[in-house]
Amino acid sequence: MLRDREAILTFVDEVEKEYGKIDILVNNAGITKDGLLMRMTEDQWDAVINVNLKGVFNMTQAVSRSMLKARKGSIITLSSVVGLHGNAGQTNYAATKGGVVAMSKTWAKEFGGRNVRANCVAPGFIQTPMTDVLSEDTIKGMLDATPLGRLGQVEDIANAVLFLASDESSFITGEVISVSGGLML
Ligand SMILES: NC(=O)c1ccc[n+]([C@@H]2O[C@H](COP(=O)([O-])OP(=O)(O)OC[C@H]3O[C@@H](n4cnc5c(N)ncnc54)[C@H](O)[C@@H]3O)[C@@H](O)[C@H]2O)c1
Repeated sequence: MLRDREAILTFVDEVEKEYGKIDILVNNAGITKDGLLMRMTEDQWDAVINVNLKGVFNMTQAVSRSMLKARKGSIITLSSVVGLHGNAGQTNYAATKGGVVAMSKTWAKEFGGRNVRANCVAPGFIQTPMTDVLSEDTIKGMLDATPLGRLGQVEDIANAVLFLASDESSFITGEVISVSGGLML
């Protein structure tokens, strides 16, 4: 759906009609299509850019109108440690995850005067279907580079998102919270 602006506008319209306004947007959906730069196809590049970057643009543009009108809102976008440090084999993914940080900092500046905040959460290595497909060697390498010595769980990410969604973080905007067990790529 994220690649379809019309579908997003219809969806956001329906949510606004049902609930009156939208207070929180979590841009969570994301995909990978990995490959070393020399082997990466244009299709791999386009697919990841269209969902992870353009999808976030589409969704945030559609939802922020309601937030700006209400003079309140929190936009949280899932980045990645890969977007902050880079990762071999993930040119497309890293570009999108760094891009959402830059977009969020821009929105923090554009929307701050209307009390609408924009922040990112940058997960490290989290146990989900996205990482279930990785080889044992890759997993071992990631664990060795994680000072806390374990995979993250979805609850670890959800807790950070919840904090940024709540008024507990009402003076925080334009920031990135890494939830990575200390992972340095
Ligand atoms: N799992 C990790 O270790 C990890 C690490 C860093 C960042 N992240 C980020 O966290 C977020 C969630 O990742 P995850 O591990 O839960 O991934 P996942 O693959 O388990 O889930 C991704 C979700 O995105 C949805 N999605 C994909 N394309 C879509 C589209 N075009 N329109 C609507 N929905 C679409 C899928 O249906 C799925 O529900 C992603 O943005 C990912 O890049 C994950």
